[in-house]
Formats: sequence, C-alpha cells, structure tokens
Amino acid sequence: PDPRTFYEAVGGEPTFRKIVARFYAEVADDEVLRPLYPEEDLGPAEDRLRLFLMQYWGGPHTYSDQRGHPRLRMRHAPFKIGPIERDAWLRAMRIAVDESGIEEPYRTQLWQYLEMAAQSMMNSWV
Ligand code: HEM
Repeated sequence: PDPRTFYEAVGGEPTFRKIVARFYAEVADDEVLRPLYPEEDLGPAEDRLRLFLMQYWGGPHTYSDQRGHPRLRMRHAPFKIGPIERDAWLRAMRIAVDESGIEEPYRTQLWQYLEMAAQSMMNSWV
C-alpha cells in the first residue's frame, strides 16, 4: 500500500490548484452556475474550494484555520441546488478532473467522492 496521503500521491497543491482553476473557468461561462455565485470575483470562491479539497485529502489544514468547521451543507443552504445545478457542477468538475493528469486509481477515487459530495449538497428536487 502507498503510505503517502492521497494529497501527496496526486502531486500536492499544484494538482489541486490546476483542478479548481479549470473548474472555475467552466463556472465563469456556465449559465446555470455563474448566477449562483454572489461575488463578481470568483477568485475567493476558488481559493475556498481548493483549500477545502486539499484539507479533505490529507493536505494542510488552512481551510479550517480560515473558515472553521466546513459545514458544507449549511454553507450551501442559501443556494438552490437541484438536479440541474448538481449536474452543471459535476459537468464542470468532470472536465477539470479529466484534464488534471491524475492517474488511476486516484482519479476514480476522487471522482466517486465528488459525485457523492455533489449529491449530498442537494437541497431542492426541482
Ligand atoms: C461554496 C455552489 C457543490 C465545496 C459555494 C458557493 C456556491 C456553491 C454558490 C458560494 C461561493 C463562495 O464560496 O463564495 C455549489 C453548487 C454545487 C456545489 C451549485 C452543486 C452540487 C459543492 C461540493 C463541494 C463544494 C460537492 C465539495 C466537495 C464548496 C466550498 C465552498 C463552497 C468548500 C466554500 C465554503 C465556505 O468556506 O464558505 N458552492 N457547490 N461545493 N462550495 Fe459549493
């Protein structure tokens, strides 16, 4: 078994930076997702998602140092997330993961987590 964390095994911060930047490039052009973001500048949202994912996969705890306990369902409550929003989020993330260069089995592990997480963030069924 690989003794490294998932975070280290996939290349650490540069890999997460690449994935999340690619994801937000899609968000910027997505007519479902873009209107959900309250801020004109997507940069801070990009930082928060990158730091969260780095922490989740065994990297530095900067996310919680800055933001406290993730409480992601609660933090998403202000935004209507139904099947259309979930699918748009996963479409953008799929591109980001596919272009990341992460190898198997890590890529599948990451993707399964993201699908599960997106499903669990839903708060609307329309
Ligand atoms: C924040 C949308 C799923 C992680 C946000 C924000 C929006 C949003 C509009 C506020 C932007 C901001 O931070 O300023 C969505 C939609 C999803 C989704 C439409 C569709 C399912 C997910 C998933 C994750 C995630 C699956 C994690 C795997 C985060 C994080 C933040 C955030 C870490 C920042 C929380 C904070 O510290 O305030 N999301 N999200 N989101 N989202 Fe999502």
